[in-house]
Amino acid sequence: MASRIRLLQLIIFLYFFKQIVSKVEFTNIKCTSLDPEFASFDYCFLKSVNRTYKYLSLKVKLLKKPVTKVKVNFAFLKKYNGYKPSLFNVTVDACKLLKNPKSNPVAAYIHSFFKSYSNMNDSCTFNHDLIVDKVSIDSVNTKATAVLPVPHGDYMFHSNWFAYDINRATVNVYGTLS
Ligand SMILES: *[C@@H]1O[C@H](CO)[C@@H](O)[C@H](O)[C@H]1NC(C)=O
Ligand SMILES: *[C@@H]1O[C@H](CO)[C@@H](O)[C@H](O)[C@H]1NC(C)=O
Ligand SMILES: *[C@@H]1O[C@H](CO)[C@@H](O)[C@H](O)[C@H]1NC(C)=O
Repeated sequence: MASRIRLLQLIIFLYFFKQIVSKVEFTNIKCTSLDPEFASFDYCFLKSVNRTYKYLSLKVKLLKKPVTKVKVNFAFLKKYNGYKPSLFNVTVDACKLLKNPKSNPVAAYIHSFFKSYSNMNDSCTFNHDLIVDKVSIDSVNTKATAVLPVPHGDYMFHSNWFAYDINRATVNVYGTLS
């Protein structure tokens, strides 16, 4: 009897463990400048070096430097029939966030995915091109799978980049969780 209960516990544990330890894959990335006189993408791509090493990189050229007022809107959407209501939808003042990450824990968490791969990390006077360099799928997996309480499926990470309250660019990253 006791061993049956233990077996049952093990099965339940493995079931939940399997749910939690899921795997993120990138499937696509799309960067769009909505105002080519303000910002343009030099590149924006996913690369598979081999089966285990995949990364994304992008570079934005800012054409009206310096830029001192930036807001970012992030949403995370699951695909059903098209991409439907977002699991979260946060807009954050990038300058405040860089000064005080604790002011918005969700945005700080999202920033943590690319912060150490990017030069958008210290202050909010952007007087240089913006680079996100080789964010590996492994690093995303390590961060995401520990906490993601979301069902398996196809997802889109959607972001709008506002400068002076005008939406200048969008970056969408598509992926699957399995
Ligand atoms: C994949 O590529 C990376 C970077 O070049 C390398 O360090 C790693 O050993 C490669 N893995 C396999 C399985 O070939
Ligand atoms: C996020 O919220 C804003 C403001 O409520 C809304 O305009 C926008 O469409 C939402 N984005 C997504 C992807 O749901
Ligand atoms: C910010 O990014 C630059 C360039 O990638 C890097 O040299 C620097 O150490 C980073 N600073 C912080 C606080 O992460």
